[in-house]
Amino acid sequence: MPIRILIVDSYQELSQLSAGFVAEMVRFKPSAVLGLATGSTPIGMYEELVRLHIEQGLDFSKTTTFNLDEYVGLSESHAQSYYTYMRRNFWDCVNIPSDQVHIPRGDAGDLARECEEYEEGIERAGGIDLQVLGIGTNGHIGFNEPGSDFGTKTHVVRLSESTIEANSRFFASSNFVPREAISMGLQTIFRSRRILLLADGESKARAIRQMVTGDVTPQLPASLLKQHADVMLMVTRQAAAELPEDVVKLSGT
Ligand code: F6R
Repeated sequence: MPIRILIVDSYQELSQLSAGFVAEMVRFKPSAVLGLATGSTPIGMYEELVRLHIEQGLDFSKTTTFNLDEYVGLSESHAQSYYTYMRRNFWDCVNIPSDQVHIPRGDAGDLARECEEYEEGIERAGGIDLQVLGIGTNGHIGFNEPGSDFGTKTHVVRLSESTIEANSRFFASSNFVPREAISMGLQTIFRSRRILLLADGESKARAIRQMVTGDVTPQLPASLLKQHADVMLMVTRQAAAELPEDVVKLSGT
């Protein structure tokens, strides 16, 4: 089945519609298992989900979440850890019980074992119902960088120079960006029953064009999603700027 593409006019619209998509899953299946992303792109989505929780009683009490990734070497309390990001933007703002949220431990003593246990945890929970993804300027999903094997499960990855550079905006300088991360693998992500990929900004336009119009190749990890049966690509006009006319015509709101 071809990827469904929805092009929206603004970041605000992206945030509202993506939150609506997640909220629909949680209302339909309160015990849903959500796969979650960090980074700049989903911040507005989390804000909107929090608003839906406060104003409309969207209930996360039975929901389970698994995050895509965490930097190796950062403790939970580190200001730039994804654990801190998730607490600040989502977990602490809704009624999700703390034993139902999961993120790899970047400071685990035995990283290989941490990866195995994380993968087992996802399986025990019954697999992911809806995985929310961002996309790197180089086409990565999770921290699966170009060249990643499509068969990987949760594993330790070495971040590419372009990802270190892109993420240095959150750190004092690129020297402080960890060089490794634990990430769900491409196979882990692919096994999610439904996938929602979000992209905003011109910096993503090339990766989005390559993903939509190019071949399925490990050089662009997001291209693997073209083989998945249920993917929604939600992008702003800026991120869709390099898509061919005929694709754009079919993909408006
Ligand atoms: C984050 C993640 C990454 C980001 C991607 C885009 O958990 O797995 O793949 O989604 O790097 O990041 P932003 O949204 O900051 O452009």
